[in-house]
Amino acid sequence: MALPPILQKLRLPVVASPMFIVSNPKQVIAQCTSGIVGSMPALNARPAELLDDWLAEIEAGIAAHNAAHPERPAAPYAINQIVHKSNDRLEHDMAVCAKYKVPIVITSLGAREDINAAVHAWGGIVLHDIINNKFAKKAIEKGADGLIAVATGAGGHAGVKHPFALVQEIREWFDGPLLLSGAIGTGDGILAAQACGADLAYIGSILIATEEARAADAYKQAIVEGSSDDIVYTNLFTGVHGNYLRGSIEAAGLDPENLPESDPSKMNFGGNAAAKAWKDIWGCGQGINAVKEVLPTAAVIDRLEREYRAARQRLMLT
Ligand SMILES: Cc1cc2nc3c(=O)[nH]c(=O)nc-3n(C[C@H](O)[C@H](O)[C@H](O)COP(=O)(O)O)c2cc1C
Repeated sequence: MALPPILQKLRLPVVASPMFIVSNPKQVIAQCTSGIVGSMPALNARPAELLDDWLAEIEAGIAAHNAAHPERPAAPYAINQIVHKSNDRLEHDMAVCAKYKVPIVITSLGAREDINAAVHAWGGIVLHDIINNKFAKKAIEKGADGLIAVATGAGGHAGVKHPFALVQEIREWFDGPLLLSGAIGTGDGILAAQACGADLAYIGSILIATEEARAADAYKQAIVEGSSDDIVYTNLFTGVHGNYLRGSIEAAGLDPENLPESDPSKMNFGGNAAAKAWKDIWGCGQGINAVKEVLPTAAVIDRLEREYRAARQRLMLT
């Protein structure tokens, strides 16, 4: 099935993933004006009233770019909604998204028919992120337009499925928009995502080491210096399994090799506790060895494009 028109004209087949605390309007604008879909979680705007200003800022940034560069218009942006019962801002944040007719909504931690219907009513599309085939089927049954397969090695909340297995299982019954995430840090990785059956790559961690990201310098530097050896998979911090930088866990006085188990009852995305936890414990995927320095977002996208083109040539895809 062809991609929805809104995802067809990207410079690179890439969606930048939303990252709690880290993503912000400046970064979203830089991602979109560099030609990939930019995104951020609605919950990053705190207090909730700030979301309206942030969406206005993103729309204005994109409009200014499009006026100055009609020959290379910006890619669309996406807003992430955590569709979990502990997110007490969901109704407010959806109303703000409706006001701006946000073109792409990324839903996580719960699929809901009413949310999908609301996005469709204003003309947007919904991409839902999942870690296994069962959740993928549920999301499509409930009306999501596309899926984001979050495979092993992804930053933040991540599954344990190998990307080849996950994409194959989904492609057996779903021919709609499929994004793949997990440790994609190079243009070669983007092409690999497409080769195994996905339409687009969904990339997060490497974009933390950019000038626009809202992350401490030490966090960015840890990504520059880190590799897959520095990533720890645990459910301790949110009740859901995810990947984090070992150094930040040690700095919090914990032993990364002996972390206690948590459980889903600890999930809470409503209050400030989650924000505090993610500020000190740094989410990160396994693909960061590809990052050698902190750069402007535009320079990272240039690198990905160079590598993507070279990878295609190497495989004689022109
Ligand atoms: C620091 C951090 C915060 C994240 N926060 C969110 C979030 O709020 N909502 C969400 O849907 N995904 C979140 N993710 C997951 C990403 O959307 C995406 O699945 C992941 O970054 C892809 O893998 P990669 O980081 O290896 O590229 C987060 C990831 C990181 C690294």
